[in-house]
Amino acid sequence: MRWTVSKGSAGSLAGDLLVLPVVEGEKGADLSGVIALAGGHGDLGKIIKGSGFSAAAGATLPMYCSGLKTGWILLVGLGKASKLSLEGLRKAAGTAARQARAMKTKTVVAMPTLADTGFDAETVGRCWVEGAEMGLAPAGPADAKQNADNGPKAWKLLPADAAEAADLRRGVQQGEMAAHGCLEARRLVNLPPSTLTPEAMAEEARQLAAEAGMKCTVLGMAQLKKHKMGGIIGVGQGSVHQPRLICLESKNAPKNAPTVALVGKGVTFDSGGISLKPGPKMDLMKSDMGGAAAVLGAARIIMARKLPVRLVAIVPTAENMPDGNAIKPADVLEMANGKTVEVLNTDAEGRLILADALHYACAKKPDHIIDIATLTGSCVVALGTEFAGVMGTSSELMEVLEQAGGETGERVWPLPLIDAHRDALKSKVADYKNIGAREGGALTAAAFLGFFVPEDVSWSHVDIAGPSWTEGTGPLGPRGGTGFGARLLARAVEILAG
Ligand code: BES
Ligand code: MN
Ligand code: ZN
Repeated sequence: MRWTVSKGSAGSLAGDLLVLPVVEGEKGADLSGVIALAGGHGDLGKIIKGSGFSAAAGATLPMYCSGLKTGWILLVGLGKASKLSLEGLRKAAGTAARQARAMKTKTVVAMPTLADTGFDAETVGRCWVEGAEMGLAPAGPADAKQNADNGPKAWKLLPADAAEAADLRRGVQQGEMAAHGCLEARRLVNLPPSTLTPEAMAEEARQLAAEAGMKCTVLGMAQLKKHKMGGIIGVGQGSVHQPRLICLESKNAPKNAPTVALVGKGVTFDSGGISLKPGPKMDLMKSDMGGAAAVLGAARIIMARKLPVRLVAIVPTAENMPDGNAIKPADVLEMANGKTVEVLNTDAEGRLILADALHYACAKKPDHIIDIATLTGSCVVALGTEFAGVMGTSSELMEVLEQAGGETGERVWPLPLIDAHRDALKSKVADYKNIGAREGGALTAAAFLGFFVPEDVSWSHVDIAGPSWTEGTGPLGPRGGTGFGARLLARAVEILAG
């Protein structure tokens, strides 16, 4: 999509559709701005009032007005200004973009700052671009072809006040980078599991590294053995596709920049292994690399934004399959840090690969480590699909993630992590077992990860099992991977970089 910030009047810009967001006032849609724009063009006010368009969030009204160069106008409701959030703005942009596609519009002119939202032009530009790009994202390759044929190719954004043009333009650029990272994560999640194998994931990472100017290291079987990464090897050993550990590092970070390590769970398909999952909905387990996708998407955004940080992006990746070679309940694995783990359920595999990856990450001496994973069904039961769970040892880092998520619309909610959760993982035959009780499963999973991070390291764990996938098509995109985490991590890193 081509985005430009234009100058001129809304009525004179060439295009096929003029999009105008409208806020809801005391008595329905606040149309003062719209009517002024279309000034002298007949019965617009009458048409809008008669249509029942109230400017409620999600409402749209297409109209034709021969006095404007675009002819077609699309009003999109933002709801009450006092209730409008950044996410509400993104959703309005997504709604408008999807409607523009339904109208087979090629060039859209939009005036997102027309409605008095109280947000600055930079923020509006960023959210508008994110929302429109996410809203138009394809569900898969077949859909992508159709979308490309029908959807808008160019957007011209017009500031309501010419003095805001530079701010709007800056926001647009940030929005494009953020959206591309998010859509990259979605694309990876949506790939079929036999296409996105661990080696294919490594190839994706190599390509990203080349494009983003990062160093890429991929540990194959021989090196995994050398590092004694029993967790990654164990989870991968039931699959014909060998596991990998991928590490991307930024090259030219400023001298005093903090080191931030991001670690993402990359289980390319989670059948459960010998502790096999039930059949229904097992197809969703192609999304068990949503954490890896978020880390790679975030790396793309962070590098594009040139944020002053030494970034270390780590993805342990394996396919969890049952097979004659697969690990079994009661097996004991020796992990990279020398600790032993009694595997009581092979379906608790994410924590096993993350444990080795966290140990590897700590060797890079990071100032902060954030891991992100589709880790537990328990977290979905607790928080649903709108919130990720966040746990860890540093309340400061958890607060950074809460702030970042509030801004990007990828919200996280804190869950507790105390010694009782650690104690629940004591084993008689090894240092730890890989599952605790069924109750509080998200918390014991986090406690397990914590064993592999030294206590003095600032570490947070984000469980995205709920929000990484969506069943329904909405204003911000179709059924499938949501890309949750890419923009969240990038924003958190931006805050940490100061
Ligand atoms: N990948 C799953 C968690 C998951 C569940 C992700 C639903 C997305 C949606 C994870 O590997 C898993 O199987 N966890 C088990 C752990 C249990 C065996 C302790 C779970 O949550 O049931
Ligand atoms: Mn599992
Ligand atoms: Zn899993």
